[in-house]
Amino acid sequence: MMREGQATAIHRADYAAPAYWIDTVDLTFDLDPAKTRVLNKMRVRRNSGVPAAPLRLHGDELNLARVLVNGAGTSFKMEGSCLVLENLPEGDAPFDLEIFTTCCPAKNTQLSGLYVSQGTFFTQCEAEGFRRITYFLDRPDVMASYTVLLRADKAQYPVLLSNGNLIEQGELEDGRHFARWNDPHKKPCYLFALVAGKLVAREQRIRARSGTDHLLQIYVRPGDLEKTEHAMNSLMASIAWDEARFGLPLDLERFMIVATSDFNMGAMENKGLNIFNTKYVLASQATATDVDFANIESVVGHEYFHNWTGNRVTCRDWFQLSLKEGLTVFRDQEFSLDLAGSPSARAVKRIEDVRVLRTVQFPEDAGPMAHPVRPDSYVEINNFYTVTIYEKGAEVVRMQHTLVGREGFAKGMKLYFERHDGQAVTCDDFAQAIADANPESDLARLLPQFKRWYSQAGTPRVRAVGAYDAATRSYRLTLSQSLAPTPGQAEKLPMVIPVALGLLDANGQPIALQLEGEAAPGAADRTVVLTEPSHSYTFVNIDSAPVPSLLRGFSAPVHLDIDYTDDELLALLAHDTDAFNRWEAGQRLALRIAINAIAAGAGDTGAAAPIAPDLLPESFIAAMRDVLRHPTLDAAFKELVLALPSEGYIAEQLDVVDPQRIHAVREALRTQLATALRPEWEAAWEQHHDTGAYRPDALSSGRRALAGMALSMLCVAARESGDTVWPGRAYQRFKDAGNMTDRFNALSALVVSGQPLAEQALARFHAMFKDDALVLDKWFALQAGAPDRGGQALATAKALLAHPDFSLKNPNRARSVIFSYCNANPGGFHRADGAGYAFWADRVLELDAINPQVAARLARSLDRWSKLAEPYRSAARQAIERVAARPALSNDVREVVTRALAD
Ligand code: TRP
Ligand code: ZN
Repeated sequence: MMREGQATAIHRADYAAPAYWIDTVDLTFDLDPAKTRVLNKMRVRRNSGVPAAPLRLHGDELNLARVLVNGAGTSFKMEGSCLVLENLPEGDAPFDLEIFTTCCPAKNTQLSGLYVSQGTFFTQCEAEGFRRITYFLDRPDVMASYTVLLRADKAQYPVLLSNGNLIEQGELEDGRHFARWNDPHKKPCYLFALVAGKLVAREQRIRARSGTDHLLQIYVRPGDLEKTEHAMNSLMASIAWDEARFGLPLDLERFMIVATSDFNMGAMENKGLNIFNTKYVLASQATATDVDFANIESVVGHEYFHNWTGNRVTCRDWFQLSLKEGLTVFRDQEFSLDLAGSPSARAVKRIEDVRVLRTVQFPEDAGPMAHPVRPDSYVEINNFYTVTIYEKGAEVVRMQHTLVGREGFAKGMKLYFERHDGQAVTCDDFAQAIADANPESDLARLLPQFKRWYSQAGTPRVRAVGAYDAATRSYRLTLSQSLAPTPGQAEKLPMVIPVALGLLDANGQPIALQLEGEAAPGAADRTVVLTEPSHSYTFVNIDSAPVPSLLRGFSAPVHLDIDYTDDELLALLAHDTDAFNRWEAGQRLALRIAINAIAAGAGDTGAAAPIAPDLLPESFIAAMRDVLRHPTLDAAFKELVLALPSEGYIAEQLDVVDPQRIHAVREALRTQLATALRPEWEAAWEQHHDTGAYRPDALSSGRRALAGMALSMLCVAARESGDTVWPGRAYQRFKDAGNMTDRFNALSALVVSGQPLAEQALARFHAMFKDDALVLDKWFALQAGAPDRGGQALATAKALLAHPDFSLKNPNRARSVIFSYCNANPGGFHRADGAGYAFWADRVLELDAINPQVAARLARSLDRWSKLAEPYRSAARQAIERVAARPALSNDVREVVTRALAD
């Protein structure tokens, strides 16, 4: 953050190795919330590979007291927030540099650097927080060995933690004590961490496959220990999985996780001392939902997997962020897929991941913040921890996995670590290793072109056209690709697009595939690799016009345009062997119906046409009925199929967006689905609502999800018919539920359908959980995200801000109200009077003074303003302009609003 002066963009092309290396760092902390003293003794040497230059150390909000070189005073100057040393010893011999500073953790509301949360010290150094602790070469290619001495009052801070191994601890005068830590692995400073406070730990000793013993610890506030069992199980499963799947063992004697309720993101992979948002650690059946349990598993896995992909091999510069994040998301996705087990549970996980990609990343790729997986420039790196870097980055790794196969990918990973262990490297180095380990693969053959996935922003479109020729009994499938310009990138070149596909015959059965020129039919499933702007594939020995099933499992992160008839989509929904495309067929049908209904309202008077109550044709309802009644499909899969595409996803398919029209149409579709399938919803509830003793496994959580959806639909149907039986049952369920998933689903069913009982249930819920911050977050989020009825949503959001339990300083709580209203409640947020946007601007500005990282995330709510219909568009632009006009804006928010206005 820099509040004075003009922020300047940093360019990838300007990368230069540092003029100095820092080999060792010896830190001493005297911890005090108001004034923490930091003594930083470094062993520094010139980088003989680059021209001599002054040593420029980064700093931010530090008070500098002393600088010594080889024990003696030295001249220095300040350039902005950098400390510049020009008169350093000549030659290549290392020298000692000692810097003494102080900082004020208690006033650190940004939660970057060293801060205090509920009386406990925490650090967050990624991306550039270490410079808020001491002057340093705060860049990931400077890797050093750390020893850390922590000193603090023993009564207030009984637990003193840092990276690596505990070397020594003991008593000091005046009730103080100390602990000395040594990290055996070299690391960039963004992986440094310390924690000091009143914490307790769940401990687990494990023996790895290789026979080594390790201590695992999860530190939380006293009272939360019972809620750490699932996180510990997830950690043990992660360690076992990385060894089994990739041969990557735990390289530390001790591995610690610490939870804090004040955290900007999900969690952080500091070497041996992961720091987590409590949301991704604490769970019990009484307080956490199935989704929370699943998220904890994948975030614990994600941070653990960083130990190799990120920590042992790190990024050369922050432009390479996806090197660690895309790869580690891919690994955590694979971990959850492997733990899910059954093919059906795997398909559900894949659909969930793709849904996030398409509803969040595709809009980013189409908006003002679009950037390549490996960006070319940024103003504030914190703004580039995006779904493009993470989720699209994971898809780019997944395509490499597809192109070399599961075994080939494991070989590639092995080569990557053989070549680069202990180094700070680039995305190129990664792709090169995967390709080199598989010299015969499509990836090796196409590597330079494949790497356009790293350099070109935007989501490619693949257009598919099929033609059956009865005379030759052949089917010709033509795939064409295109990529629209994105900000700063007008010219685009063709990508390498793996398209997994199959063909269904007239009875919906899979056809053995035989391309023209092949001797005999082969498998019914194969992957073709599109590299040209357009290519045709001719399949032979086909008896009648087939239905193509393309991009199976979502084999590439692209839009697929194909003109299916309704009957073809119904056939895919009923018969496709690929579960992903089966789900996708249902989504396409629903989307088509929604888009037609939205368009039907676009009269030239501007007044929206009334929405018919029967937009869904009988064929669609019948298909959904078949799915709900299906004897063998998993409940989790049924729930996904029955869920209509979100308002945001529908909006992305349109050139001009009227959010109120979309909201009204989608609500009408939901109401019809609720009413028309009422007997099926009742049956689904009856069959699935009892899931026995609580376990957060795929099968029983799927049953709870479907039962919850059924209850919600039955409450919607009841609102239409005036019936009070189902709302009564929902209230009963809310009171009696044995776990948070069932309780919260019942509460949501009442709130979302606007039942009179909702108020009573909300009050009761608050009384039950008023002391559990994570559960209260759910309570706030549910209300702030509840559908608008008569324009009350904004008033609700404002009332929640005034609630005594609300706090803008706690990111989880701020998100629970503000983000839920601005991002998850389009019908309530997009008001014709612009009051929702004014609320947004006020909150962005308020938050920016406290926490620029969180403010900048909120600032992105209006990324897609330029697609809005009037009067929304002008009102949104005005609100963004009001934010941009504020002189004292953080770099974080300024970059986001500047890019938005350029759209
Ligand atoms: N590296 C972390 C992860 O992916 C992300 C992260 C945690 C982060 N805290 C942050 C990024 C603060 C930027 C700023 O797991
Ligand atoms: Zn990560």
